Amino acid sequence: MTRDSNKDKSANSMWGGRFATGPDAIMTAINASISFDQRLYAQDIAGSRAHAAMLAAQGIISPEDATAIRTGLLTILSEIEAGQFPFSDALEDIHLNIEARLTERIGEAGKRLHTGRSRNDQVAVDFRLWVRDQCDAAIAGLTALMQAFLAQAEAGADWIMPGFTHLQTAQPVTWGHHMLAYVEMLARDRGRFEDARRRMNECPLGAAALAGTGFPIDRHATAAALGFDRPTANSLDSVSDRDFALEFLSASAICATHLSRFAEELVIWSTAQFRFVKLSDKWTTGSSIMPQKKNPDAAELLRAKIGRILGATVALFTVMKGLPLTYSKDMQEDKEQVFDAADTLMLALAAMTGMVSDMTAQKDTLRAAAASGFSTATDLADWLVRALGLPFREAHHVTGRLVALAEQKGCDLPDLSLAELTSAHPGITQEVYSVLGVDNSVRSRVSYGGTAPDQVKAQVTRWKAALGQG
Ligand code: ARG
Repeated sequence: MTRDSNKDKSANSMWGGRFATGPDAIMTAINASISFDQRLYAQDIAGSRAHAAMLAAQGIISPEDATAIRTGLLTILSEIEAGQFPFSDALEDIHLNIEARLTERIGEAGKRLHTGRSRNDQVAVDFRLWVRDQCDAAIAGLTALMQAFLAQAEAGADWIMPGFTHLQTAQPVTWGHHMLAYVEMLARDRGRFEDARRRMNECPLGAAALAGTGFPIDRHATAAALGFDRPTANSLDSVSDRDFALEFLSASAICATHLSRFAEELVIWSTAQFRFVKLSDKWTTGSSIMPQKKNPDAAELLRAKIGRILGATVALFTVMKGLPLTYSKDMQEDKEQVFDAADTLMLALAAMTGMVSDMTAQKDTLRAAAASGFSTATDLADWLVRALGLPFREAHHVTGRLVALAEQKGCDLPDLSLAELTSAHPGITQEVYSVLGVDNSVRSRVSYGGTAPDQVKAQVTRWKAALGQG
């Protein structure tokens, strides 16, 4: 395409009145958004139908024109869905493409559709409708994933595994407790999408270019027809606001961060060194050279997807910062970022749900790992406080000496003899062995939200009721 290839094209058919010539070919290339915003066709048609019906109800256009517009839009909808719509770059975006096609099909009436509105409020309402649907999809995807984690939690409410801090063995915990940690995280994610949805559910249609319109439109009617709670209250804000997209991206980025964290745990847990879980063949791949390999590719990709989603988030924040009110063409850069982030998030949620449902915790390996690494050292220190009345700092010190002794002997705490134990503190008795086992350790953590199986079972019951499975 040469720079001058569009030179003798005539001026734009939609606004060409004051233009002597058409745009430069490169201008068309940088300006047109139809290649991607055609994804908004259903929302654009829904917005136009609501607008046309309202214009007729208000006596701004005739009922005959409204009927022609409605029928024309429905035909265009099927045309697009059948892949037969002639999308044109020269017509820039989905709004002009549909409007021009409408006039082509129904004539004069099509030209009346744009009364009392602008592409500025049109794109604002289309994009809001689209993002609102994505919030619903994210909420549904998160619910399914929470159910998958919950099923794991219920099956292994009392399976013992090592709990980690710094990825070093810390204290024994239960598998159910670890799974429920993700249910909590995902519930917050879901809440963020619910909040964002609630906040974005105001209709900008009727703000027109920026100042509202002199036509006697009924913004409450169009808002209701499109399922919004109410119309937006300030026309300037209505066409310049993209908070709904920023909120969606922010919520997506936090959610993808959570997915990334569990993905990393799966990568670690499925290694030959850990063997905490077996991933299903459905979510792993082989190596073309090493026959023994089963690689956790899905988990690795889920660990990485946050990069894309956060990239989109940063991109849109950067576009929006410093923009003066109201609409600027900069804002056309919002869509590709949000489309990609939304596609990525929905795919990631579905993949994680499948992987979590199909993974198998290796109960015996988990238990053996929990018993090693001096995981009950805190229980020993607590016992010294409870049974012997030692101040905790001193108990910590005595326990530290015993850990060093066990490490030196190459054994675990329960393997030390009573004589060895009393060498660190003379008051220690046989009774101490009861707290050195992992079962007693987890059973003792009964504080609210703690890892004791009874606590975990209570939380499972609560979540089952909350997720409608009770
Ligand atoms: N394609 C534009 C966008 O996505 C639609 C709004 C254009 N408005 C305008 N005055 N040029 O932002």
